[in-house]
Amino acid sequence: MPFIVWDDLYNIGVPAIDEQHKQIVSIANRMLEALMQQKATREMPFILREMGTYADTHFRTEEEYMEKAEFPGLEDHKSLHQEFREKVARFQQKLEANDPSLTAELTIFLTTWVTEHFSMIDHQYVPALKAAGLIT
Ligand SMILES: [Fe+2]
Repeated sequence: MPFIVWDDLYNIGVPAIDEQHKQIVSIANRMLEALMQQKATREMPFILREMGTYADTHFRTEEEYMEKAEFPGLEDHKSLHQEFREKVARFQQKLEANDPSLTAELTIFLTTWVTEHFSMIDHQYVPALKAAGLIT
């Protein structure tokens, strides 16, 4: 049973973005599983790096769509993506420092990100994409 369960309510309507979101949920679940099974020391550096790289690609896809649609909230949305990147970098430092707060922080961060960012924040650009004819 995954820690974070995909909900179709998260769907944006852009297949590329929805697939990337599902992939991020899957990487997040692998992270949480590694933490719970005490495999963090061995696996987490790789999964965290994968999350960082994948999220970066995904953010660029989303930002391109928002730019094409001339979404007025683009800059605010970009700063949220930047916060995510910085957070992942901080988690990498905490992991290297064997910081015991990592498990709790990462769990809260990932579940909050999916429930807030995917289900609410990302939906804010949907009307702009529709108006620009990028989705139906
Ligand atoms: Fe986003």
